Amino acid sequence: SSDPVRRGRLTGGRPAEVAAFLSSMDADRWIADADVRVDIAHLLMLDRQGIIERDASQAVMAALLEMYENGVPDTVFDDEYEDVHAGIEATLIAASGMDKGGRLHMGRSRNDEVATCIRVRLREELLTHLEGLITLRGALLEQAANHTETVMPGFTHLQHAQPTTLGHYLLAYEQALSRDFERLTDAYIRVNRSPLGAAAFASTGYPIDREMTAELLGFPDLMLNTMDAVSARDFVIETASACTILMSTLSRLAEEIVLWSSAFVRFVTLDDAYCSTSSIMPQKKNPDTAEIMRGKTGAVAGAFTAAFTAVKGLPMSYNRDLQDVTPSLWRAVAESGACIGIATGIIETATFHPDRMREEAGRGFSTATELADVLVREYGLPFRAAHNIIGRAVRSETITLAVLEAAAQDLSGISLVERGLTAERITEALDVDVSVRMRRAPGGPAPETVQKAIAMRNVAREED
Ligand code: ARG
Repeated sequence: SSDPVRRGRLTGGRPAEVAAFLSSMDADRWIADADVRVDIAHLLMLDRQGIIERDASQAVMAALLEMYENGVPDTVFDDEYEDVHAGIEATLIAASGMDKGGRLHMGRSRNDEVATCIRVRLREELLTHLEGLITLRGALLEQAANHTETVMPGFTHLQHAQPTTLGHYLLAYEQALSRDFERLTDAYIRVNRSPLGAAAFASTGYPIDREMTAELLGFPDLMLNTMDAVSARDFVIETASACTILMSTLSRLAEEIVLWSSAFVRFVTLDDAYCSTSSIMPQKKNPDTAEIMRGKTGAVAGAFTAAFTAVKGLPMSYNRDLQDVTPSLWRAVAESGACIGIATGIIETATFHPDRMREEAGRGFSTATELADVLVREYGLPFRAAHNIIGRAVRSETITLAVLEAAAQDLSGISLVERGLTAERITEALDVDVSVRMRRAPGGPAPETVQKAIAMRNVAREED
Protein backbone atom coordinates (compact mmCIF):
# COMPACT_ATOMS: atom_id res chain seq x y z
CA SER A 1 0.00 0.00 0.00
CA SER A 2 1.17 3.53 -0.66
CA ASP A 3 -0.72 4.75 2.41
CA PRO A 4 2.26 5.97 4.45
CA VAL A 5 0.61 4.89 7.69
CA ARG A 6 -0.06 1.28 6.72
CA ARG A 7 3.31 0.05 5.59
CA GLY A 8 4.69 -0.98 8.97
CA ARG A 9 2.44 -2.87 11.33
CA LEU A 10 0.06 -4.27 8.76
CA THR A 11 0.74 -6.46 5.78
CA GLY A 12 -0.95 -6.81 2.45
CA GLY A 13 -3.72 -4.87 0.90
CA ARG A 14 -7.34 -5.09 1.80
CA PRO A 15 -10.51 -5.66 -0.15
CA ALA A 16 -11.92 -2.48 -1.66
CA GLU A 17 -15.02 -3.03 0.42
CA VAL A 18 -13.01 -2.84 3.63
CA ALA A 19 -11.00 0.15 2.48
CA ALA A 20 -14.19 2.01 1.59
CA PHE A 21 -15.72 1.07 4.92
CA LEU A 22 -12.79 2.50 6.86
CA SER A 23 -12.38 5.61 4.75
CA SER A 24 -13.46 9.08 5.82
CA MET A 25 -12.44 10.55 2.49
CA ASP A 26 -15.85 11.91 1.44
CA ALA A 27 -16.29 13.94 4.62
CA ASP A 28 -12.58 14.83 4.63
CA ARG A 29 -13.15 17.09 1.61
CA TRP A 30 -14.52 19.51 4.18
CA ILE A 31 -11.23 19.65 6.06
CA ALA A 32 -8.56 19.30 3.35
CA ASP A 33 -7.68 23.02 3.28
CA ALA A 34 -7.85 23.23 7.06
CA ASP A 35 -5.41 20.29 7.25
CA VAL A 36 -2.86 22.19 5.18
CA ARG A 37 -3.09 25.13 7.58
CA VAL A 38 -2.82 22.84 10.59
CA ASP A 39 0.25 21.22 9.01
CA ILE A 40 1.82 24.64 8.42
CA ALA A 41 1.24 25.72 12.03
CA HIS A 42 2.64 22.42 13.35
CA LEU A 43 5.68 22.65 11.08
CA LEU A 44 6.46 26.26 12.08
CA MET A 45 6.30 25.16 15.70
CA LEU A 46 8.55 22.10 15.14
CA ASP A 47 11.02 24.40 13.42
CA ARG A 48 11.05 27.08 16.09
CA GLN A 49 11.38 24.50 18.85
CA GLY A 50 14.33 22.95 17.02
CA ILE A 51 12.51 19.63 16.74
CA ILE A 52 12.96 19.49 12.97
CA GLU A 53 16.12 20.46 11.04
CA ARG A 54 15.84 23.62 9.02
CA ASP A 55 16.48 22.04 5.59
CA ALA A 56 13.73 19.48 6.19
CA SER A 57 11.26 22.09 7.41
CA GLN A 58 12.01 24.31 4.41
CA ALA A 59 11.39 21.52 1.95
CA VAL A 60 8.16 20.45 3.62
CA MET A 61 7.02 24.06 3.93
CA ALA A 62 7.55 24.61 0.21
CA ALA A 63 5.31 21.63 -0.56
CA LEU A 64 2.71 22.82 1.98
CA LEU A 65 2.68 26.37 0.61
CA GLU A 66 2.13 24.99 -2.84
CA MET A 67 -1.04 23.29 -1.53
CA TYR A 68 -1.99 26.35 0.52
CA GLU A 69 -1.89 28.54 -2.57
CA ASN A 70 -3.31 26.20 -5.20
CA GLY A 71 -5.46 23.90 -3.12
CA VAL A 72 -4.69 20.24 -2.44
CA PRO A 73 -4.23 18.09 -5.54
CA ASP A 74 -6.99 15.60 -6.34
CA THR A 75 -4.59 12.75 -5.66
CA VAL A 76 -4.81 13.30 -1.89
CA PHE A 77 -8.37 12.01 -2.08
CA ASP A 78 -7.28 8.80 -3.78
CA ASP A 79 -8.96 5.57 -2.65
CA GLU A 80 -5.65 4.12 -1.57
CA TYR A 81 -5.53 6.50 1.43
CA GLU A 82 -7.68 5.94 4.46
CA ASP A 83 -8.16 9.62 5.03
CA VAL A 84 -7.04 13.03 3.86
CA HIS A 85 -4.27 13.18 6.47
CA ALA A 86 -2.64 10.09 4.95
CA GLY A 87 -3.20 11.52 1.46
CA ILE A 88 -1.55 14.84 2.28
CA GLU A 89 1.34 13.18 4.10
CA ALA A 90 1.94 10.89 1.12
CA THR A 91 1.94 13.95 -1.16
CA LEU A 92 4.45 15.75 1.05
CA ILE A 93 6.72 12.70 1.12
CA ALA A 94 6.45 12.39 -2.66
CA ALA A 95 7.37 16.06 -3.06
CA SER A 96 10.20 16.37 -0.55
CA GLY A 97 11.39 12.80 -0.05
CA MET A 98 10.93 10.50 2.93
CA ASP A 99 13.94 11.96 4.72
CA LYS A 100 12.27 15.37 4.89
CA GLY A 101 8.56 14.78 4.29
CA GLY A 102 8.59 11.86 6.71
CA ARG A 103 9.46 14.19 9.61
CA LEU A 104 6.33 16.31 9.78
CA HIS A 105 4.32 13.93 11.94
CA MET A 106 6.61 14.21 14.99
CA GLY A 107 4.81 15.10 18.19
CA ARG A 108 1.30 14.67 16.90
CA SER A 109 -1.27 12.09 15.86
CA ARG A 110 -4.15 12.09 13.45
CA ASN A 111 -6.32 12.18 16.56
CA ASP A 112 -5.38 15.72 17.57
CA GLU A 113 -4.90 16.64 13.93
CA VAL A 114 -8.42 15.74 12.83
CA ALA A 115 -10.02 17.33 15.88
CA THR A 116 -8.12 20.54 15.11
CA CYS A 117 -9.06 20.47 11.42
CA ILE A 118 -12.76 20.03 12.22
CA ARG A 119 -12.65 22.99 14.59
CA VAL A 120 -10.83 25.20 12.09
CA ARG A 121 -13.36 24.49 9.35
CA LEU A 122 -16.34 24.63 11.67
CA ARG A 123 -15.39 28.12 12.86
CA GLU A 124 -15.71 29.32 9.26
CA GLU A 125 -19.01 27.57 8.83
CA LEU A 126 -20.37 29.08 12.02
CA LEU A 127 -19.34 32.55 10.91
CA THR A 128 -21.14 31.97 7.60
CA HIS A 129 -24.26 30.91 9.52
CA LEU A 130 -24.06 34.01 11.70
CA GLU A 131 -23.67 36.27 8.67
CA GLY A 132 -26.57 34.53 6.97
CA LEU A 133 -28.75 35.01 10.03
CA ILE A 134 -27.89 38.71 10.14
CA THR A 135 -29.03 39.02 6.52
CA LEU A 136 -32.22 37.04 7.17
CA ARG A 137 -33.02 39.14 10.22
CA GLY A 138 -32.41 42.26 8.12
CA ALA A 139 -34.88 41.02 5.50
CA LEU A 140 -37.53 40.38 8.19
CA LEU A 141 -36.97 43.81 9.74
CA GLU A 142 -37.25 45.47 6.35
CA GLN A 143 -40.53 43.73 5.52
CA ALA A 144 -41.78 44.49 9.03
CA ALA A 145 -41.04 48.18 8.45
CA ASN A 146 -43.16 48.05 5.27
CA HIS A 147 -46.04 46.54 7.21
CA THR A 148 -46.36 48.26 10.56
CA GLU A 149 -49.89 49.35 9.55
CA THR A 150 -50.90 46.10 7.88
CA VAL A 151 -53.62 44.73 10.12
CA MET A 152 -54.02 40.98 10.05
CA PRO A 153 -55.54 38.25 12.18
CA GLY A 154 -53.38 36.70 14.87
CA PHE A 155 -54.03 33.08 15.76
CA THR A 156 -53.94 30.76 18.71
CA HIS A 157 -54.76 27.12 18.04
CA LEU A 158 -54.80 28.31 14.40
CA GLN A 159 -58.16 29.95 15.17
CA HIS A 160 -58.64 33.68 14.64
CA ALA A 161 -57.75 35.12 18.03
CA GLN A 162 -57.01 38.88 18.04
CA PRO A 163 -56.03 41.33 15.33
CA THR A 164 -52.35 42.10 15.04
CA THR A 165 -50.06 43.59 12.42
CA LEU A 166 -47.86 41.88 9.87
CA GLY A 167 -44.95 43.91 11.24
CA HIS A 168 -45.55 42.36 14.65
CA TYR A 169 -45.71 38.88 13.13
CA LEU A 170 -42.44 39.26 11.25
CA LEU A 171 -40.71 40.68 14.33
CA ALA A 172 -41.68 37.52 16.20
CA TYR A 173 -39.56 35.50 13.76
CA GLU A 174 -36.72 38.01 13.88
CA GLN A 175 -36.63 37.75 17.65
CA ALA A 176 -36.64 33.94 17.54
CA LEU A 177 -33.79 33.98 15.01
CA SER A 178 -31.80 36.33 17.23
CA ARG A 179 -31.76 33.56 19.84
CA ASP A 180 -30.56 31.08 17.23
CA PHE A 181 -27.84 33.60 16.53
CA GLU A 182 -26.95 33.66 20.23
CA ARG A 183 -26.82 29.88 20.43
CA LEU A 184 -24.49 29.61 17.43
CA THR A 185 -22.29 32.39 18.83
CA ASP A 186 -22.11 30.50 22.08
CA ALA A 187 -21.20 27.26 20.29
CA TYR A 188 -18.41 29.15 18.51
CA ILE A 189 -16.76 29.96 21.84
CA ARG A 190 -16.37 26.27 22.65
CA VAL A 191 -15.40 25.28 19.10
CA ASN A 192 -12.63 27.86 19.22
CA ARG A 193 -10.14 25.92 21.39
CA SER A 194 -7.09 24.06 20.14
CA PRO A 195 -6.61 20.29 20.67
CA LEU A 196 -3.34 20.35 18.72
CA GLY A 197 -0.39 18.86 20.59
CA ALA A 198 -2.54 16.32 22.42
CA ALA A 199 -1.12 13.75 19.97
CA ALA A 200 -2.81 10.35 20.34
CA PHE A 201 -4.14 11.41 23.76
CA ALA A 202 -1.06 11.39 26.01
CA SER A 203 0.65 14.46 24.56
CA THR A 204 4.25 13.92 23.53
CA GLY A 205 7.83 13.84 24.78
CA TYR A 206 8.96 16.35 22.14
CA PRO A 207 9.35 19.89 23.49
CA ILE A 208 6.34 21.17 21.56
CA ASP A 209 4.72 24.57 22.07
CA ARG A 210 0.96 24.14 22.10
CA GLU A 211 0.35 27.83 22.69
CA MET A 212 2.23 28.67 19.53
CA THR A 213 0.21 26.40 17.23
CA ALA A 214 -2.99 27.56 18.90
CA GLU A 215 -2.05 31.18 18.27
CA LEU A 216 -1.01 30.55 14.67
CA LEU A 217 -4.38 28.93 14.01
CA GLY A 218 -6.26 31.74 15.75
CA PHE A 219 -7.43 29.75 18.78
CA PRO A 220 -7.57 31.93 21.91
CA ASP A 221 -7.54 28.85 24.17
CA LEU A 222 -6.31 25.28 24.42
CA MET A 223 -8.22 22.10 25.01
CA LEU A 224 -5.78 21.63 27.85
CA ASN A 225 -6.30 18.06 29.02
CA THR A 226 -4.94 16.00 26.15
CA MET A 227 -7.24 13.04 26.70
CA ASP A 228 -10.30 15.27 26.56
CA ALA A 229 -8.80 17.19 23.63
CA VAL A 230 -8.81 14.23 21.22
CA SER A 231 -12.03 12.62 22.36
CA ALA A 232 -14.32 15.60 22.93
CA ARG A 233 -17.08 15.96 20.38
CA ASP A 234 -19.52 17.87 22.54
CA PHE A 235 -18.72 20.86 20.32
CA VAL A 236 -20.18 18.83 17.44
CA ILE A 237 -23.28 17.90 19.40
CA GLU A 238 -23.68 21.49 20.56
CA THR A 239 -23.36 22.90 17.05
CA ALA A 240 -25.70 20.28 15.57
CA SER A 241 -28.13 21.03 18.37
CA ALA A 242 -28.02 24.78 17.72
CA CYS A 243 -28.57 24.01 14.01
CA THR A 244 -31.51 21.77 14.89
CA ILE A 245 -33.12 24.43 17.05
CA LEU A 246 -32.51 26.96 14.28
CA MET A 247 -34.28 24.56 11.90
CA SER A 248 -37.25 24.38 14.23
CA THR A 249 -37.56 28.17 13.85
CA LEU A 250 -37.09 28.06 10.06
CA SER A 251 -39.49 25.15 9.77
CA ARG A 252 -42.20 27.08 11.56
CA LEU A 253 -41.63 30.01 9.21
CA ALA A 254 -41.78 27.58 6.27
CA GLU A 255 -45.03 26.09 7.53
CA GLU A 256 -46.46 29.59 7.86
CA ILE A 257 -45.49 30.37 4.28
CA VAL A 258 -47.03 27.17 2.93
CA LEU A 259 -50.23 27.95 4.79
CA TRP A 260 -50.28 31.60 3.82
CA SER A 261 -49.82 30.89 0.12
CA SER A 262 -52.76 28.47 0.04
CA ALA A 263 -55.98 29.51 -1.72
CA PHE A 264 -57.81 29.37 1.61
CA VAL A 265 -55.57 31.97 3.15
CA ARG A 266 -53.87 33.96 0.34
CA PHE A 267 -51.87 36.21 2.64
CA VAL A 268 -48.76 35.94 0.50
CA THR A 269 -47.66 35.31 -3.04
CA LEU A 270 -44.18 33.89 -3.40
CA ASP A 271 -41.85 34.91 -6.15
CA ASP A 272 -41.89 32.34 -8.98
CA ALA A 273 -38.19 31.73 -8.36
CA TYR A 274 -39.08 30.04 -5.07
CA CYS A 275 -41.92 27.93 -6.48
CA SER A 276 -42.33 24.88 -8.68
CA THR A 277 -45.17 23.73 -10.87
CA SER A 278 -46.77 20.37 -11.59
CA SER A 279 -45.94 18.06 -14.48
CA ILE A 280 -49.63 17.26 -14.92
CA MET A 281 -51.64 20.17 -13.47
CA PRO A 282 -50.83 23.17 -15.62
CA GLN A 283 -52.28 25.72 -13.21
CA LYS A 284 -50.12 24.79 -10.22
CA LYS A 285 -47.73 27.08 -8.39
CA ASN A 286 -46.40 25.29 -5.35
CA PRO A 287 -44.30 26.69 -2.47
CA ASP A 288 -41.71 23.90 -2.83
CA THR A 289 -38.78 25.78 -1.32
CA ALA A 290 -40.67 26.29 1.92
CA GLU A 291 -41.73 22.64 1.92
CA ILE A 292 -38.19 21.40 1.39
CA MET A 293 -37.05 23.69 4.20
CA ARG A 294 -39.69 22.20 6.48
CA GLY A 295 -38.62 18.71 5.35
CA LYS A 296 -34.89 19.26 5.85
CA THR A 297 -35.55 19.93 9.51
CA GLY A 298 -35.83 16.16 9.83
CA ALA A 299 -32.41 15.64 8.24
CA VAL A 300 -30.75 18.15 10.57
CA ALA A 301 -32.44 16.72 13.65
CA GLY A 302 -31.41 13.27 12.41
CA ALA A 303 -27.80 14.42 12.07
CA PHE A 304 -27.90 15.75 15.60
CA THR A 305 -29.33 12.47 16.87
CA ALA A 306 -26.74 10.43 14.97
CA ALA A 307 -23.87 12.49 16.43
CA PHE A 308 -25.25 12.41 19.94
CA THR A 309 -25.91 8.67 19.87
CA ALA A 310 -22.49 7.83 18.48
CA VAL A 311 -20.70 9.83 21.16
CA LYS A 312 -22.67 9.01 24.24
CA GLY A 313 -21.22 5.57 25.00
CA LEU A 314 -17.57 6.10 24.14
CA PRO A 315 -14.89 5.54 26.75
CA MET A 316 -11.81 7.78 26.80
CA SER A 317 -10.12 8.60 24.58
CA TYR A 318 -10.06 8.43 20.77
CA ASN A 319 -12.31 5.77 19.30
CA ARG A 320 -12.78 5.34 15.58
CA ASP A 321 -16.53 5.80 16.03
CA LEU A 322 -15.67 9.50 16.17
CA GLN A 323 -14.84 9.44 12.48
CA ASP A 324 -18.48 8.67 11.81
CA VAL A 325 -19.66 11.64 13.87
CA THR A 326 -18.07 14.21 11.58
CA PRO A 327 -20.27 13.65 8.48
CA SER A 328 -23.33 14.31 10.66
CA LEU A 329 -21.83 17.65 11.64
CA TRP A 330 -21.31 18.67 8.02
CA ARG A 331 -24.79 17.53 7.12
CA ALA A 332 -26.34 19.61 9.90
CA VAL A 333 -24.24 22.62 8.92
CA ALA A 334 -24.80 22.32 5.16
CA GLU A 335 -28.55 21.79 5.30
CA SER A 336 -29.25 24.48 7.86
CA GLY A 337 -26.95 26.92 6.06
CA ALA A 338 -28.79 26.37 2.78
CA CYS A 339 -32.10 26.94 4.55
CA ILE A 340 -30.95 30.30 5.95
CA GLY A 341 -30.24 31.51 2.42
CA ILE A 342 -33.50 30.21 0.97
CA ALA A 343 -35.55 31.69 3.80
CA THR A 344 -33.90 35.06 3.19
CA GLY A 345 -34.77 34.93 -0.51
CA ILE A 346 -38.36 33.91 0.19
CA ILE A 347 -38.87 36.80 2.62
CA GLU A 348 -37.11 39.41 0.47
CA THR A 349 -39.16 38.59 -2.63
CA ALA A 350 -42.52 37.75 -1.05
CA THR A 351 -45.58 39.87 -1.86
CA PHE A 352 -47.89 40.13 1.12
CA HIS A 353 -51.59 40.91 0.65
CA PRO A 354 -52.76 43.54 3.16
CA ASP A 355 -56.28 43.54 1.70
CA ARG A 356 -56.74 39.83 2.39
CA MET A 357 -55.23 40.18 5.84
CA ARG A 358 -57.57 43.02 6.70
CA GLU A 359 -60.53 41.00 5.39
CA GLU A 360 -59.68 38.24 7.83
CA ALA A 361 -58.56 40.41 10.73
CA GLY A 362 -62.01 40.91 12.23
CA ARG A 363 -63.37 37.43 11.55
CA GLY A 364 -64.34 35.05 14.32
CA PHE A 365 -65.16 37.91 16.75
CA SER A 366 -61.45 38.57 16.98
CA THR A 367 -62.04 41.91 18.71
CA ALA A 368 -64.18 40.45 21.49
CA THR A 369 -61.26 40.75 23.91
CA GLU A 370 -61.09 44.50 23.36
CA LEU A 371 -64.85 44.81 23.98
CA ALA A 372 -64.45 42.86 27.24
CA ASP A 373 -61.66 45.26 28.23
CA VAL A 374 -63.97 48.22 27.47
CA LEU A 375 -66.71 46.78 29.69
CA VAL A 376 -64.12 46.48 32.45
CA ARG A 377 -62.44 49.87 32.04
CA GLU A 378 -65.46 52.00 31.27
CA TYR A 379 -68.46 50.21 32.81
CA GLY A 380 -66.88 48.77 35.93
CA LEU A 381 -67.43 45.06 35.28
CA PRO A 382 -65.08 42.43 36.69
CA PHE A 383 -63.11 40.96 33.79
CA ARG A 384 -64.59 37.48 34.22
CA ALA A 385 -68.14 38.83 34.17
CA ALA A 386 -67.43 40.77 30.95
CA HIS A 387 -65.76 37.67 29.49
CA ASN A 388 -68.85 35.54 30.23
CA ILE A 389 -71.31 38.11 28.93
CA ILE A 390 -69.50 38.49 25.61
CA GLY A 391 -68.97 34.74 25.34
CA ARG A 392 -72.72 34.32 25.68
CA ALA A 393 -73.30 36.90 22.91
CA VAL A 394 -70.80 35.18 20.61
CA ARG A 395 -72.61 31.91 21.14
CA SER A 396 -75.67 33.55 19.60
CA GLU A 397 -73.37 34.83 16.82
CA THR A 398 -74.29 38.50 17.22
CA ILE A 399 -72.78 41.11 19.46
CA THR A 400 -75.46 43.80 19.73
CA LEU A 401 -76.46 46.02 22.61
CA ALA A 402 -79.66 44.03 23.10
CA VAL A 403 -77.88 40.68 23.19
CA LEU A 404 -75.20 41.94 25.58
CA GLU A 405 -77.82 43.52 27.81
CA ALA A 406 -79.79 40.27 28.00
CA ALA A 407 -76.63 38.28 28.77
CA ALA A 408 -75.57 40.79 31.45
CA GLN A 409 -78.99 40.70 33.13
CA ASP A 410 -79.08 36.95 32.99
CA LEU A 411 -75.50 36.24 34.14
CA SER A 412 -74.86 39.08 36.62
CA GLY A 413 -78.21 40.75 37.19
CA ILE A 414 -76.83 44.07 36.02
CA SER A 415 -77.88 46.46 33.26
CA LEU A 416 -75.22 47.63 30.85
CA VAL A 417 -77.66 50.12 29.37
CA GLU A 418 -78.16 51.69 32.80
CA ARG A 419 -74.41 51.94 33.10
CA GLY A 420 -74.41 53.91 29.85
CA LEU A 421 -73.27 51.37 27.24
CA THR A 422 -74.34 52.37 23.73
CA ALA A 423 -74.43 50.62 20.37
CA GLU A 424 -71.85 53.13 19.05
CA ARG A 425 -69.43 52.30 21.85
CA ILE A 426 -69.77 48.61 21.01
CA THR A 427 -69.14 49.20 17.32
CA GLU A 428 -66.08 51.26 18.10
CA ALA A 429 -64.66 48.66 20.47
CA LEU A 430 -65.13 45.95 17.86
CA ASP A 431 -63.14 47.88 15.26
CA VAL A 432 -59.95 46.02 14.31
CA ASP A 433 -57.86 49.18 14.03
CA VAL A 434 -58.91 50.31 17.48
CA SER A 435 -58.08 46.90 18.91
CA VAL A 436 -54.60 46.95 17.37
CA ARG A 437 -53.87 50.57 18.31
CA MET A 438 -54.82 49.86 21.94
CA ARG A 439 -52.20 47.10 22.17
CA ARG A 440 -49.10 49.17 22.68
CA ALA A 441 -47.50 47.54 25.71
CA PRO A 442 -43.83 46.91 24.95
CA GLY A 443 -43.50 44.28 22.22
CA GLY A 444 -47.14 44.60 21.20
CA PRO A 445 -48.68 44.96 17.72
CA ALA A 446 -49.70 48.66 17.69
CA PRO A 447 -48.05 50.42 14.73
CA GLU A 448 -46.00 52.90 16.83
CA THR A 449 -44.98 50.08 19.19
CA VAL A 450 -43.84 47.97 16.25
CA GLN A 451 -41.95 50.95 14.83
CA LYS A 452 -40.13 51.38 18.13
CA ALA A 453 -39.41 47.65 18.29
CA ILE A 454 -38.01 47.69 14.76
CA ALA A 455 -35.63 50.49 15.74
CA MET A 456 -34.52 48.51 18.80
CA ARG A 457 -34.13 45.30 16.83
CA ASN A 458 -32.09 47.08 14.18
CA VAL A 459 -29.70 48.22 16.91
CA ALA A 460 -29.56 44.69 18.37
CA ARG A 461 -28.85 43.32 14.91
CA GLU A 462 -26.10 45.89 14.33
CA GLU A 463 -24.53 44.90 17.64
CA ASP A 464 -24.66 41.19 16.74
N1 ARG B 1 -9.98 9.94 9.81
C1 ARG B 1 -10.02 9.83 11.21
C2 ARG B 1 -11.19 10.62 11.81
O1 ARG B 1 -11.86 11.29 11.10
C3 ARG B 1 -8.76 10.31 11.83
C4 ARG B 1 -7.78 9.22 11.93
C5 ARG B 1 -7.61 8.68 13.27
N2 ARG B 1 -7.41 7.28 13.05
C6 ARG B 1 -6.96 6.44 13.95
N3 ARG B 1 -6.87 5.22 13.61
N4 ARG B 1 -6.61 6.81 15.15
O2 ARG B 1 -11.45 10.50 12.99
